[in-house]
Amino acid sequence: MKKIKNVTCIGAGYVGGPSMSVFAENCPNINFTIVDKDEKKINAWNGDVDNLPIYEPGLKEIIKKTRNKNLFFSNDIDNAIINSDIIFIAVNTPTLKEGPGAGFGADLKYIISCAEHIAKIAKSDKIIVEKSTVPIKTAEKLNEIFSKNNSSVHFEILSNPEFLAEGTAIQDLRSPDRVLIGGNKSKSGQNAVSVLVEIYSKWITKEKIITTNLWSSELSKLASNAMLAQRISSINSLSAICDATGADIKEVSNAIGLDHRIGRYFLNPSVGFGGSCFQKDILNLVYLCRTYGLDEVAEYWYQVVKMNNYQRSRFSNKIIQKLGQDLTNKKITLFGWSFKKDTNDSRESASIFVAIELLSRGAKINVYDPQTSNEIIYNDIKEYSSNYSNIIDNIKYVNDPYKATEQSSCVGILTEWDEFKSLDWKEIKKTMVNEKFIIDGRYILKDKIEEKITYL
Ligand code: NAD
Ligand code: UGA
Repeated sequence: MKKIKNVTCIGAGYVGGPSMSVFAENCPNINFTIVDKDEKKINAWNGDVDNLPIYEPGLKEIIKKTRNKNLFFSNDIDNAIINSDIIFIAVNTPTLKEGPGAGFGADLKYIISCAEHIAKIAKSDKIIVEKSTVPIKTAEKLNEIFSKNNSSVHFEILSNPEFLAEGTAIQDLRSPDRVLIGGNKSKSGQNAVSVLVEIYSKWITKEKIITTNLWSSELSKLASNAMLAQRISSINSLSAICDATGADIKEVSNAIGLDHRIGRYFLNPSVGFGGSCFQKDILNLVYLCRTYGLDEVAEYWYQVVKMNNYQRSRFSNKIIQKLGQDLTNKKITLFGWSFKKDTNDSRESASIFVAIELLSRGAKINVYDPQTSNEIIYNDIKEYSSNYSNIIDNIKYVNDPYKATEQSSCVGILTEWDEFKSLDWKEIKKTMVNEKFIIDGRYILKDKIEEKITYL
């Protein structure tokens, strides 16, 4: 088997950064170079470890140990491609904004441009690993690009989807439930699979490394996210029944989850799932189903996204019911901007949609979150609201939870940060005015404090 010396990863984001760091930590004899077209991001990865582009518990400690030893961050994409034996592609695959499949299909333009770039530059055989989440048959598209643009080099494509969750990425990468590697059944395909298995087996037991054909691997990633998100929408749908009847969703979730066939994970009710992947991956699955004429299957999965939108609006509607349709001159504080605790990522966070709805009714909003900033909040509102310039002056970040709630009629909890549980809620209530309405969309205060709290 070929001895691997140099590995490149294109994409220095939430997947590329942490995953290559854990590879480097466990494979001291291989050099890992992470490249990105975003020069500022690479500079930040090479800068102060307290200001890395992403916040992830345990990450900076690995960076301190490995950076510039066998882990490198670079803007020199060409050189990294030329020198590597294996190239991971970990670029973003967002939902298509226009053209056929708009609003559903995955936009593969970044993946395609990586493949074209590699094909143009490569002078020796390479293993190309799809790390990004992609629709089935993407490997076929990549193969076409490689054979059309560079016939003198052999490119062997593998699918190795990433299952890490943000906030627990390092733990997930060090000790995953499974590693999935899909490859061609040909001799060169199986050789490439063995090379990657060998690398992972430096720290992961062989039983946890499963190998499949390319299409099973590509589909398993979309399916895993769809199944996880489906559980959240299921429990959130039940929370609406609880709200209408007086049953308690935390008690119901506990009772359901104790059945070992169901299990207790991913049954936490919430304001709806956020994050860059669940919605986009389900929409992608819906699009795939429609493409293959499986309309009933498409509708089944689409319902998971619809239920998520319903849950977000249930939260803002509860505030509107309490404070009135016209929120002009009402001050509201939102606790939590990130889409979950322990991350600075706010992509598709429920907070964005709730904030836009309240701002459009004239509310003034303070946001407190241990990992956000005015810059992040403004960018998010800009991305999702066509009314940006009229509402943006009415929302701001306040870097102290007790100052943030001053003069507020309502405090809404949207992210489950541990810090929110240990706040002095009596004190917070004292800072508030008028209705003093506290609504917990994450059920984190349930049975923990005496103050009167409304749940979703
Ligand atoms: P990200 O947006 O954080 O990072 C992607 C990076 O790729 C960006 O820095 C971008 O500048 C860079 N890039 C794009 N095109 C490039 C090009 N042609 N050349 C060089 N750099 C380029 O994205 P992410 O969250 O890391 O997700 C990456 C992929 O992994 C997606 O397909 C996603 O669905 C999947 N995924 C994400 C997670 C997660 O928790 N975020 C988990 C599992 C899988
Ligand atoms: C998710 C998957 O868990 C990962 O396995 C996958 O690799 C990743 O998507 C991806 O492909 O991007 P992530 O989105 O980072 O990871 O975080 P999750 O822990 O899954 O949470 C997603 C959203 O669901 C968050 O908003 C979270 O608060 C919410 N959630 C989660 C609930 O509302 N209830 C739960 O019980 C669990």
